[in-house]
Amino acid sequence: MKRVFIISIIITIFLPFAQADEGMWLPYLLKQLNEKDMQSKGLRISADDIYSINQGSLKDAVVLFGGGCTGEIVSDQGLLLTNHHCGYGRIQAHSSLEHDYLTNGFWAMNKSEELPNPGFTVTMLISMSDITAEVLKDVTETMSETERNKIIEKNSKQIIEKATEGTHYRATVKSIYNGNQYLLFVNEVFEDIRLVGAPPSSVGKHGGDTDNWMWPRHTGDFSVFRIYVGKDGKPAPYSKDNVPYKPKRHLSISVKGIEPNDFTFVFGYPGTTEQFLTSWAVELIQNQTNPIAINLRTQRLDVIKKYMQEDRLTRIQYAAKAASIANGWKKWIGENKGLIRLNTIEKKRTLEAEFTQWIAKDKTRQQTYGDILPQYEQLYRQTARLSKEDSYFREAVYSIEIVRFAWAFVPLVNLLGSAASADKIEEAINAHAGRIEGFFKDYNPTLDKEIFGLLMQSYYDNTDKSSFPPQTEKLLKSYKYNLKALADDIYSKSIFLQPDKLRSLLENKPAKIVSSLENDLLFRLIRPVFANYIQTIASELDRLETQIDSLNRLWTKALMEMQSDKTFYPDANLTLRVTYGKIDGYQPADGVSYKYYTTLKGIMEKEDPEIYDYAVDPKLKQLYLTKDYGRYAMSNGEMPVAFIATNHTTGGNSGSPVLNADGHLIGLNFDRCWEGTMSDIEYDADQCRNISVDIRYCLFIMDKFAGATHLVNEMTIVEN
Ligand code: ARG
Ligand code: ASP
Repeated sequence: MKRVFIISIIITIFLPFAQADEGMWLPYLLKQLNEKDMQSKGLRISADDIYSINQGSLKDAVVLFGGGCTGEIVSDQGLLLTNHHCGYGRIQAHSSLEHDYLTNGFWAMNKSEELPNPGFTVTMLISMSDITAEVLKDVTETMSETERNKIIEKNSKQIIEKATEGTHYRATVKSIYNGNQYLLFVNEVFEDIRLVGAPPSSVGKHGGDTDNWMWPRHTGDFSVFRIYVGKDGKPAPYSKDNVPYKPKRHLSISVKGIEPNDFTFVFGYPGTTEQFLTSWAVELIQNQTNPIAINLRTQRLDVIKKYMQEDRLTRIQYAAKAASIANGWKKWIGENKGLIRLNTIEKKRTLEAEFTQWIAKDKTRQQTYGDILPQYEQLYRQTARLSKEDSYFREAVYSIEIVRFAWAFVPLVNLLGSAASADKIEEAINAHAGRIEGFFKDYNPTLDKEIFGLLMQSYYDNTDKSSFPPQTEKLLKSYKYNLKALADDIYSKSIFLQPDKLRSLLENKPAKIVSSLENDLLFRLIRPVFANYIQTIASELDRLETQIDSLNRLWTKALMEMQSDKTFYPDANLTLRVTYGKIDGYQPADGVSYKYYTTLKGIMEKEDPEIYDYAVDPKLKQLYLTKDYGRYAMSNGEMPVAFIATNHTTGGNSGSPVLNADGHLIGLNFDRCWEGTMSDIEYDADQCRNISVDIRYCLFIMDKFAGATHLVNEMTIVEN
């Protein structure tokens, strides 16, 4: 009795759900679920003002930017804001030694100077709706997971066809609550997105990877794009005849400023949260997946950084790659710290113990849910070994650039050896030839060779003997199993490192292409290694994950039943969500207290011309010295840079509009604080803060620093 009591106290105190400000809410349910709460916390507009399918609402100004960020429309001519790190790939693609837009920034002074990005898209939501019953039509409880998935796929296809018939819209069906509910999203996809402006890296990436995931922060993390459409106002691929998009709605921008405890909300596309993970899943992440990835990325980053410091061209070529490798690396380090500090695994075990007691009280529950936890335990035991191999494969083998490049030729070799038509063969050869230039534009073979030696050796040393199957034995033996020595030969002899030779080879007859590639040293090594991985690791893992998925569905359903008095938010899945909270500092450690905002003064305090991340542009310094901030200054005359709030955000929320109680734009979300990086698994109201760049700093940089005043003039700026 006593034990039960203690357990229940622990649960009420540490319940991993139901904390203040936690949750990523579906816009179409705001009215029903959140409007009252939001208004009681300060919101002055209605849920319909945020999301409505009958009238213009804020949602018409929010887009999915590319495949993993958010952007917002801020003028009646389709002007779009997002983060600098979200526009980074585009900015980099337009950069060269002569036009180094990454380092120096870029500003189109009129529309004809805006730079096209063919192939790049932004997606705008038209509507979302619950279609669970239609998706699950003909699905029965007793059918296998494969059968179930087949029916769901077929039903979804029909629903999508019906929803988009006669329109230029595209639609997707996505599940929430781990497959217990299904939603339909109808979207409009814009295909002509031009780069309008980007601050220099010393502003847009200030603090670099050193300050990434940390507070206090001074990054002017924004960039500017514009949506273009065909003359008929509909999305169209790039054409010089396209015209700026006239949106149904654009955001108003507030320069009034912020105060602690002000209500804020973030409207955007959060990618992934996993509130329903079991203790076994968290154990796997915390004790195996994260440590392996952290270790291998540390090695990779050390090499990349060394070469980037030595050479300017390498710095341009690898800036975006290094940033993305470092981003995951640093997050996982923070995530592990947070999970350990919060004792998440233990809390999950406690919840699972409570669950066991709850089902024991009822025969039907026992029958329906009794197997869940034992099955999890068994499945994760099997998963752990395979998942280790998988982590090593992804973070070692598949992280080597030339390996990925060469691997892409395997389907070509297979096709050339098949009975495919001449047209198809020609098309495939051309596609491969077309990729060569792009790959080598941003490639440093000396750097990659060092990584190859380190990571392949690590793969060899740490995974099962079978990772290098018998076909590779002779080869490895001739190098005395020294992967670094093998790397020396590969990088001097393989055709994949000789772009001109590779290009000429592709002009030959198929049989010649096949024989040359099949005899290539690199190809001979990786083909069997990949084949082994696919057959013995990936497909097995896939099978286990399908079983885990189906268990997750049941577990989620059961948990929601057990805690039926609680409103659960659906985990993030890269669909449009609203999260809300308040402007607030926090105490990261005993005796330390963080303020809720930073200013330009901090940039000057950290200035160090010797350190790339902390260099300050002379023009910015000048503006600081003369305090030439115009209408963008705070009431005390200082220049705001960034602020934090309690909104529950995750990857994908980058670039999301941060709005005030009136729905006016006050900042762009771009990060989370270090102490809260475990929030995808467990949110902690005390320590989780989202970081945003103050919109006044963005305007100041555009207007006063870059002289792109015409852009600010396009926007709607309000003083409240
Ligand atoms: N941590 C942020 C997010 O997850 C920002 C990343 C970009 N900045 C950087 N220094 N790498 O994406
Ligand atoms: N920086 C992240 C992004 O790119 C946001 C986050 O993880 O908090 O979406």
